[in-house]
Amino acid sequence: MSYIKYEQNGFVGVLTIDREKALNALNSEVLADLDAALDAIDLDSTRCLIITGAGQKSFVAGADIGEMSTLTKAEGEAFGKKGNDVFRKIETLPIPVIAAVNGFALGGGCELSLSCDIRLAAENAVFGQPETGLGITPGFGGTQRLARTINVGKAKEMIYAGTKVKAPEALSLGLVSAVYPAEELMPAAMKLAERISANAPIAVRACKKAINDGLQVNMDEAIVIEEKLFGSCFETEDQKNGMTAFVEKRKPEPFVN
Ligand code: CAA
Repeated sequence: MSYIKYEQNGFVGVLTIDREKALNALNSEVLADLDAALDAIDLDSTRCLIITGAGQKSFVAGADIGEMSTLTKAEGEAFGKKGNDVFRKIETLPIPVIAAVNGFALGGGCELSLSCDIRLAAENAVFGQPETGLGITPGFGGTQRLARTINVGKAKEMIYAGTKVKAPEALSLGLVSAVYPAEELMPAAMKLAERISANAPIAVRACKKAINDGLQVNMDEAIVIEEKLFGSCFETEDQKNGMTAFVEKRKPEPFVN
C-alpha cells in the first residue's frame, strides 16, 4: 500500500498525500512513497503537477510527531535530510508544481507547500510552523523557504511564536496566490495547471529554472542564466510556432515539445 495516490489528467499530474487518519502527517514511509511517486512521473508527457492532501481537513499536518518523539540527534538530522531531499526534488522538478492547500499546512506541511512553485488555498487552510512549541526548529526547509517567500519579520514571528495564519491572511502576505471555497480548490488548481500546460513546455521549464537558479546568485550572474535559457528557446519548434502565428495574426498550433 502506498501513501500516495497519483492520477494523470492529460498533461497534468495530481499527487495526493493519502494518510487521512493522521491528517496526512509525514512519517518515513510517506516520505519514501512521495519520493518514489515523484521519480515515477513521466516528465515527457506531464507539463504540470498538483500536490494536495486527502480529505477535507488537512493538506499535511506536519512531520510525524510520534516518529520524531524518540529520535536521537543523529537520527533527527537524518530525518531532516530525508524530508529536505524530497522537498528539494519537488522544488527542482523541471515542471511547475502547484500546492492545492486543502486545510492544515503545519510544520512539514507548510514546508511542503513552500517547496512548490505556486500555492492555492481553500478557505479553511491554516499555515504555521509550530515546531518551537515542540522543542525543535522547522526541519524540512521552513526557516529558509518561509523567510524567502514572505516578509522576513513575519516569517520569524510565525517560526518563533508559532503564529498560525489563516487563508485570508496568507493571501495578504503573498504566501498563497488565491483562496477558494473548498469545493472550488481542485477545479481552480486544475484550470491553472491546464493554462500552464497549454503554453510552450520547454519555455515554461526554462522559466522555472531561470527564476529558481537566478534567485540563488547575484543579478549579474542571474541575467546571464536568463540569457542562456532565452537563447535556447530559439532552437525549439514551439518558438517558430508561437512567433509565426503572431506574425500571421492567427493562433499557434498546440505546442509540442
Ligand atoms: N504527527 C503525527 N500525528 C498527527 C499529526 C502529526 N504532525 N498531526 C495530527 N496527527 C494525528 C493525531 O495524532 C490524531 O491521531 P489519533 O486519531 O490517532 O489520535 C489525528 O491525526 C487527528 O488529529 P487531532 O485529533 O489532533 O485533530 P484536531 O482536529 O483536534 O487537530 C491539528 C488538528 C491542530 C492539526 C492537530 O492535529 C495538531 O496540532 N497536529 C500537529 C501539528 C504540528 O505540530 N505540526 C508540526 C509537526 S513538527 C514538524 O513538522 C517538523 C518539521 O518541520 C519537519
